[in-house]
Amino acid sequence: MKGIILAGGAGTRLYPASLPISKILLPVYNKPMIYYPLSVLMQAGIREILIITTPNDNENFKRVLGDGHQWGIQLSYISQQVKRGIADAFILGKEFIGKDACALILGDNLFYGSGFEALLSQATQQPFTGATVFAYEVNDPTRFGIVEFDKKGTAISLEEKPKNPRSNFAVTGLYFYDNQVVQLAQTLQPSSRGELEITDLNRLYLERNLLHVFCLDRGFAWLDTGTHESVLEASNFVYTMQINQGIEIACLEEIALAKKFITKKQLATQLQNVPSNNYYDYLKKLLQRK
Ligand code: DAU
Repeated sequence: MKGIILAGGAGTRLYPASLPISKILLPVYNKPMIYYPLSVLMQAGIREILIITTPNDNENFKRVLGDGHQWGIQLSYISQQVKRGIADAFILGKEFIGKDACALILGDNLFYGSGFEALLSQATQQPFTGATVFAYEVNDPTRFGIVEFDKKGTAISLEEKPKNPRSNFAVTGLYFYDNQVVQLAQTLQPSSRGELEITDLNRLYLERNLLHVFCLDRGFAWLDTGTHESVLEASNFVYTMQINQGIEIACLEEIALAKKFITKKQLATQLQNVPSNNYYDYLKKLLQRK
């Protein structure tokens, strides 16, 4: 399975903080925002990843993340010239996806909770058919794509930012699709706001009885860092978890080691280029772990 991170968009809601650099490269506590969605794809075992950026920010992303070899993955980059909608990722990514299944994660989404990796491996079980999305109960359903369930818990409708929501379950910004997605994305028409909507794409799977919806439970944290307030909330959340537990959230080196994408020897070599600080100490401890 391949993976795409959608990291375009002008970040207008984060103006003027987003003036110097893409909002997806702004820090969420001690890491660039993109580390969080990248860590999710890596946890799902995905090693070939396409990053879609604005034309202005493409070089910045390359400078920050490189080709991914340091984490045992392959990163490639493409620009989205205009903000044509989230589902545009599968039109832009057609060649990259080839004949494979493909995951998509939004660059401003942060997921954290116990059992997530097990859920990801369940969600990506091969052979992968249809589409899998994750639902999360929210306070303000008018801000998201919303999924409605029947009494048996089967998804029956999907709506993008509904004025009168039929449920409080938001569809989060992490999606897994079989290869049909490339062809289905091409059939989409722009919505009234001029975008190829991810919710319309998911509805095509729902109509074919091919949409699987996993619910993330209340102990789970899902944060969409699209506003100043939510970036601050996410930073505070990461800080609190890390300080209390002595762990790093979205430590790409740690995931790469755990997934055997890199060896301890490779990490030891990389450490020579990491400045001496708390992050360095954390990586050093990983090398000492059995
Ligand atoms: O976060 C989950 C929600 O994400 C879903 O519940 C909604 O169904 C989905 O439409 C989306 O809603 P948002 O209002 O959060 O989408 P937004 O336009 O903010 O785009 C999300 C990210 O994707 C953002 O970082 C910018 C990037 N993006 C978006 C579009 C439309 C692009 O790179 N290119 C695009 O064309």
